Amino acid sequence: MLRPLNRCSSVTAAIVLCVIGHAWLCPPAAAVATVQNTASRATTNPLEGKPDAIQNGGAMFRTRCAGCHGPDARGYLGPDLTGLWASGSADDRIFDIVRRGVPGTEMPPADPQRVPDREIWQILAYVRTLAGTVPPAVTAGNAANGEQIFRANCLGCHMVGGEGGQLGPDLSRIGSGRPRTALANKLRGTSDVIRSGYEPVTLVTRDGQRIRGVRKNEDEFSIQIMDVRQRVQGYLKANLTDVIEEKQSVMPVYGSDRLNDRDLDDLLSYLNTLRGPGSGRR
Ligand code: HEC
Ligand code: HEC
Repeated sequence: MLRPLNRCSSVTAAIVLCVIGHAWLCPPAAAVATVQNTASRATTNPLEGKPDAIQNGGAMFRTRCAGCHGPDARGYLGPDLTGLWASGSADDRIFDIVRRGVPGTEMPPADPQRVPDREIWQILAYVRTLAGTVPPAVTAGNAANGEQIFRANCLGCHMVGGEGGQLGPDLSRIGSGRPRTALANKLRGTSDVIRSGYEPVTLVTRDGQRIRGVRKNEDEFSIQIMDVRQRVQGYLKANLTDVIEEKQSVMPVYGSDRLNDRDLDDLLSYLNTLRGPGSGRR
C-alpha cells in the first residue's frame, strides 16, 4: 500500500512544482492572450480581508514573489510593496502590474492561461495585510546634491538616461527597481548581491599578467570580460593559467569616510528619482 501511495504523491508534487515553475517563468511570448474577463474584473480586490484568500495568497507569495520582493514584501531584488496602497495605488492598477509584469525589468508577467485572476487577488489580499497605512517616509535627502555626487563618483561606471560608463549596470530605473535599504547596503558594501552579468573576475595570463573585470560570457574554452578600463576582451582559456572568481564587486565600497551619512541620503534621494528612460533629468 505504501509504495504506490508514495509514488503517487511525489508525482503530484512534481506536477504542482512544474505548473508553478512554468507559470511564473514562462517567456512573455507565451503570454499572448490578453487579460481575460477584463470587462467583468473587479476594480477593488474582491478577496480583501478574507482569511482563506490571505492564507493561500501567503503561500503563493512565498514561492512566487518573496525571492525578489523579500519574505516581508519590504523589498530585496525588487521594490518594497508595503507602501503601495498608502501611497495611493488602486487595487486594479496593482493587479495589472502583477498580470502584465514590467517589460524590460525583472518583474515577470503572469500567463493568464496558467494563473487565474483569483490567484493574483489572493496574493494581493495577503500583501495588503503586510502593508502600512502611512506612506513610506520620504527621504530627507537633497536629490540635486545627490545628482552632483553621482556625476562625480558614479557616472564613470553607470549609465543614466543614455549617458555614462558601462562597467556597471544602467541605473536609469534603479529607483523603481530596488528598495532604499538595498541601495544603501550596496553603497556601504554590506550587500551580498552581485548583479548577474557583472560578476567580478581576475584572469591570470601565461606571462603572469592579471586582468580584472566583470564576466560577460564564458564557455568551456573561452571567457569574455569587460575589463576595468571598459574594454570588452575575449580570452582563450588555454592562454590563461587562472580564472579567479572574486568575492568583492568591482564597484568600490563607499564607507562613511568616503561618503558621509548626509551625502548618502542625498545620493539615495537622487537614485530614488530614477524611474525610467530619461527620468532624473526632468
Ligand atoms: C524576478 C524578480 C521578481 C519576481 C519573481 C516578482 N517581482 Fe515584482 N517586481 C520586480 C521588480 C524588479 C520590480 C520593479 C520594476 C520596475 O523597475 O518598475 C517589480 C515590481 C512590482 C510591482 C510594482 C511596484 C510599484 O512600486 O509599482 C508589484 C505590485 C509587484 N512587483 C508585485 C509582485 C508580485 C505580487 C509577485 C509575485 C506574484 C512579483 N512581483 C514577483 C521583481 C520581481
Ligand atoms: C568602478 C566602477 C563603479 C563605480 C565607480 C560605481 N559602481 Fe556601482 N556598480 C558597479 C558594478 C560593476 C556593479 C555590478 C556588480 C554588483 O552588483 O556589485 C555595480 C552595482 C551597483 C548597484 C546595484 C545595481 C542593481 O542592479 O542592484 C548600484 C545601486 C550602484 N552600483 C550604484 C552606484 C553608485 C550610486 C555609485 C557612486 C557612488 C557607484 N555605483 C559607483 C561598478 C561601479
